[in-house]
Amino acid sequence: MIVADLQTPALVIDATAFTHNITTMAQARPGSSLRPHVKAHKCTALAQSQFAAGHTAFCAATPKEILGMAHAGLGDDLLLANETLDVARLQAMAKITPSVTIAVDSDETIAVAARAGIQRVLIDVNVGLPRCGCRPKDAGRLGDLARSRGLEVRGVMGYEGHAVGVVPRIERTAICEASMEQLAIAHRLVGGDVVSAGGTGTFDISPIPSEIQAGSYALMDTAYSQLDIPFRQALWISTTVISARSHYAVGDCGLKALGMDHGLPTIADHDVMLCSDEHITFTPAARIGSKMMIAPAHVDPTAAYHDVFHVADGPGLEAHIIDAWPINLRGW
Ligand SMILES: Cc1ncc(COP(=O)(O)O)c(C=O)c1O
Repeated sequence: MIVADLQTPALVIDATAFTHNITTMAQARPGSSLRPHVKAHKCTALAQSQFAAGHTAFCAATPKEILGMAHAGLGDDLLLANETLDVARLQAMAKITPSVTIAVDSDETIAVAARAGIQRVLIDVNVGLPRCGCRPKDAGRLGDLARSRGLEVRGVMGYEGHAVGVVPRIERTAICEASMEQLAIAHRLVGGDVVSAGGTGTFDISPIPSEIQAGSYALMDTAYSQLDIPFRQALWISTTVISARSHYAVGDCGLKALGMDHGLPTIADHDVMLCSDEHITFTPAARIGSKMMIAPAHVDPTAAYHDVFHVADGPGLEAHIIDAWPINLRGW
């Protein structure tokens, strides 16, 4: 079977680009200096490739991802890099993978984690992105509070999400360095061995983190492709042209199959005009019944819309399908 034979829309991984990405990152950030973020792909089969490349600690955004990774035998050192107040899910994680580490940023999240039987936490620090994380100057107090509740405080995390996608390296570096100064302040107050930060756009910039939390690097997307980073587009969606006029054509892949928050996807040698629920309209036109390959703009939400990655032995419609990896960590 080749890619052109798949029912569309179908999510396809080019194994050659994927292997390049995994190998390149493992050379740059070997072993535990990378904690791959599974939210980018939500797939334990893909995570097995990251494990085989030497990364045994993983990072997740949801309890479902943590539980799924533990069930798949990938639970040596899991970090929920996110806050939760859900006692039942915290208890489930503590039971199934007792070594799990949970991000906390408030008295409330510390109290719930302790009550649920969680043993290890990181103090999550706001380093400039208006999202979770305490003020750097509050990190020491929260670390002390967590220890007083019997929790092991492993260190700090601080995600510089406002830096990772900035295209000019000089600007990205300046924002990242300012963020890591904030994280260093918090780390001095908290202590511990772990300083967890970073993403695909900053994996090679800051020397401060003991571990980088990158996830998108494995599959990539067109937003990250604009940066000067050594990873290749490995994720594609095949579509069938279902309608055409003189100057445009329409494929059967719309925003219900594509993460659109980073903009329109890309089709080589064509301009994408618009995406609606189940349609992608592009120019110039293409023959009705022909197949096209679409590069998504944002990998994480795109993967979360699909059931399976079809793994192909190369790029394009003629590549052979060599495997199918269920996207089995979806949901919360
Ligand atoms: C907490 C956290 N760490 C790291 C990342 C980095 O991921 P990426 O590889 O997409 O830059 C993200 C992405 O949103 C994140 O939320």
